[in-house]
Amino acid sequence: MARESGSKRMTESGLPIEPVYGPDALDGWDPAEKLGEPGSYPFTRGVYPTMYTGRPWTMRQYAGFGTAVESNKRYKQLIENGTMGLSVAFDLPTQMGHDSDAPIASGEVGKVGVAIDSIEDMRILFGGIPLDKVSTSMTINAPGALLLLLYQLVGEEQGVPAEKLTGTIQNDVLKEYIARGTYIFPPKPSLRLIADIFKYCRTEIPKWNTISISGYHMAEAGASPAQEIAFTLADGIEYVRTAVAAGMDVDDFAPRLSFFFVSRTTLLEEVAKFRAARRIWAKVMKEEFGAKNPKSLMLRFHTQTAGVQLTAQQPEVNLARVTVQGLAAVLGGTQSLHTNSFDEAIALPTDKSARLALRTQQVLAYETDVTYTVDPFAGSYVVEKMTDEVEAAALELMRKVEDMGGAVSAIERGFQKSEIERSAYRITQEQDSGERVVVGVNRFQLDEEEPYEPLRVDPAIEAQQAERLAKLRAERDQPVVDAALAALKAAAEGTDNVLYPMKEALAAKATVGEVCDTLREVWGAYVPTDAF
Ligand code: 3HC
Repeated sequence: MARESGSKRMTESGLPIEPVYGPDALDGWDPAEKLGEPGSYPFTRGVYPTMYTGRPWTMRQYAGFGTAVESNKRYKQLIENGTMGLSVAFDLPTQMGHDSDAPIASGEVGKVGVAIDSIEDMRILFGGIPLDKVSTSMTINAPGALLLLLYQLVGEEQGVPAEKLTGTIQNDVLKEYIARGTYIFPPKPSLRLIADIFKYCRTEIPKWNTISISGYHMAEAGASPAQEIAFTLADGIEYVRTAVAAGMDVDDFAPRLSFFFVSRTTLLEEVAKFRAARRIWAKVMKEEFGAKNPKSLMLRFHTQTAGVQLTAQQPEVNLARVTVQGLAAVLGGTQSLHTNSFDEAIALPTDKSARLALRTQQVLAYETDVTYTVDPFAGSYVVEKMTDEVEAAALELMRKVEDMGGAVSAIERGFQKSEIERSAYRITQEQDSGERVVVGVNRFQLDEEEPYEPLRVDPAIEAQQAERLAKLRAERDQPVVDAALAALKAAAEGTDNVLYPMKEALAAKATVGEVCDTLREVWGAYVPTDAF
């Protein structure tokens, strides 16, 4: 909801919105320089010449809970309902590199995502799903390499060669230090591990998107659209510098970088945000890194509708919000989209609410006319003006990060975090004052909320996972596991690519916790230098 400041309405990025825009808004604005053609530099209009006119974006619903059995069932339901790509949510123990039977995991097993401890769980997770026919995103960061290798191992068992595997690991630890928190190792070894993944995928899994550089979580923490793209692209620049410093040529890995943003209800500014992000990234890759391959200049991204804008009050109203947010992502040229379920502010989506979320995308793709033509807002006075303004605000913030020595140095100074906390505080103040309307929460409330029966995860699964781990450890060839973990430790202590010994260890049924503990022993665990 645009904020009113005095008589002027302001955008989420704190820029003024005029009641009327005319030709003067684009004085001196050169479409050849600012737009180019769809699928061509600077990609403002979209990364492909035909965008959705040939095929819609990938409908990719984030899902996963309980054990691999429950999640496998949900994935099959989503495929049956027409989803076009999978997106795996892992539980916190898996995301933090702990086994389900580790004391620290208690109470979290299978809660915010699926519990994956070993190759056995991964095999069940994708049982009956042909990995050469589906692209799979995995929202996993610090242990991203492990889940990628488990996916490759399961693919090998299905007879699918690694070069046929398609998908993405989120693998973006910098935003974990800024906003989400599922980091394990300090920045330096984390960046080394990410460079190892880039090198490994270039030779072993060439169609894999090696990273999903994310602004979503910063946005959910309160970042404005300009902050979201500025801090995300600054993280991207850090990753590119790391890979180049590790000896890779930019065109060897840049085509497989991908991004992830939120889409808010403020549709016009969101469309401007996505277009500005593509243009900034294309220029950075061409001018700063000298990338030659056009695919290195393309900012391909996934979008998830804004979780923080869902309300627990009158949850059905979220269906309207998610529709507008999904439309914003499509008008902004997303490659892949997750639409939130209307009940997600209350609990895990039920089968019905998950289906409804997917149906929302299908209505956008097959009942509206927004897929008939590419970048329909091109040339619009307000959207082009907003694209320029969001771009300028983002570039200003990127310069500040650069002046601090880049994303890692700025993180260590708490810069991004404090900027985002300032924005979050302002949003809360505006909601409390009623200046920012949240339908059903601070306006148009019901006297009494209607009851809603959410989906609950059976707490007994924790004991089930522990039993299965005990069985796995008893039955595996322990000396082989020990030798593989020792080789991993040696690689982590040296400069060899750790993914090769890591794959051997996982194949020998080493668990996620054991592999991460081996790396913790060598690299340590990150303790935030919080400025606050
Ligand atoms: N013209 C030509 N080619 C086209 C085309 C067109 N119009 N449309 C698609 N294609 C081609 C593409 O070139 C591609 O082929 P290639 O791989 O050989 O290049 C193929 O068709 C697939 O198209 P895309 O790559 O555009 O679409 P995908 O869906 O496969 O990939 C992505 C999209 C953004 C690049 C990828 O990284 C992705 O899927 N990301 C998803 C990330 C995700 O789901 N994250 C969820 C996070 S949940 C979370 O963190 C929130 C939680 O914490 C709360």
